[in-house]
Amino acid sequence: MNEILVYRWLLWAWFALPVIIFVSLFFVTAPYGRHAKRTGGPSLPAWLGWVVMESPSVIAFAACWLFGRRTPVTWAFFALWQLHYVNRTYIFPFRMRGASKPMPLGVIAGAFFFTLVNGYLNGRWLTAFGPALGTGWLTDPRFVAGAALFLVGFAINQHADRVLFHLRAPGETGYKIPRGGLYRWVSCPNYLGEIIEWSGWALATWSPAGLAFALWTVANLLPRARAHHRWYRAQFPDYPTERRALVPLVF
Ligand SMILES: NC(=O)c1ccc[n+]([C@@H]2O[C@H](COP(=O)([O-])OP(=O)(O)OC[C@H]3O[C@@H](n4cnc5c(N)ncnc54)[C@H](OP(=O)(O)O)[C@@H]3O)[C@@H](O)[C@H]2O)c1
Repeated sequence: MNEILVYRWLLWAWFALPVIIFVSLFFVTAPYGRHAKRTGGPSLPAWLGWVVMESPSVIAFAACWLFGRRTPVTWAFFALWQLHYVNRTYIFPFRMRGASKPMPLGVIAGAFFFTLVNGYLNGRWLTAFGPALGTGWLTDPRFVAGAALFLVGFAINQHADRVLFHLRAPGETGYKIPRGGLYRWVSCPNYLGEIIEWSGWALATWSPAGLAFALWTVANLLPRARAHHRWYRAQFPDYPTERRALVPLVF
C-alpha cells in the first residue's frame, strides 16, 4: 500500500472521528485537571504529560516540512504552526501552577496519537500532497484573513492561559474565579481562542487537513467548556450569572 492511499484513509477518518468524539464528550469528560478521577491508575505529572503528548505536533510537522517543499508559503505555515505548538509543548507546561498533579496515561496516550496523526496530516498536505502554493497565496484574502484570525486566537488563548496561571500562588492547587479580559463574558476564553486559531488555520491553508483539525478542536473543546462552566457554577455560588461557557451571550 503506498503512502498516498494511507494518507487518504487517515484523512477520511479525521473527518469521521470528531463527530463521534463530539457526541461522546457530552457524556464523558476527559479525566484530567478538575475532571480527573482519583483512581490511582498509571499517570505522569501533568507538566510531563503535556510535553509528551504535544511533542509529536512539533516533530511530525517539522519532519514533513524538512523532507517536503520548503517555499515561502510553507515557511509561513511552519512559523504559525510552531508558534502555537512550541509554546504549548515546551513553554506552557512550565508556566502552569499545580503542574505536578497526576495526568492519566490513557489521556496522554490518546492525545499523543491525535497530535502525531494531526501533525502528519497537516504537514504532509502542505508540503507534499496538497497543491504547491506560489508566493501569490501570501496576499490571497483567504491567507490574509486566516492568518489574522489565527493570530487573534493565539493572543486570546495566551491571555486567558496567563490569567489562569496567576490565580494560584506557587504550590497552590485549588481553584478560584478567573476575572478580566474575555473572562468577563465566558468561562473558557482559552478554548475560544484555540477554536478561533484553528479555524483561521483552516482558512489560511484552505486544506481538508486544516478543516478536519478545526472540527476536532470544536469537538474537543465545546463539550469541555460546557463541563467547566457547569463545574464553576456548582462550586461558586457567586459565579457571575452573565458569563456563558464559550461564546459571549450565546453558549
Ligand atoms: N486543540 C485542542 O483540541 C485542545 C485540547 C485541550 C486543550 N487545549 C489547550 O490547552 C490549554 C490547556 O487546556 P486545559 O484543558 O488544561 O485548560 P484548563 O482546564 O483551563 O486549565 C489550564 C491550566 O489552568 C489551571 N486552572 C484552570 N482553571 C483554574 C482556576 N479556576 N483556578 C486556578 N487554576 C485554574 C489548570 O489547573 P488544573 O490542571 O489543576 O485544573 C491548568 O493548569 C488551553 O489553552 C487549551 O485551549 C487544546
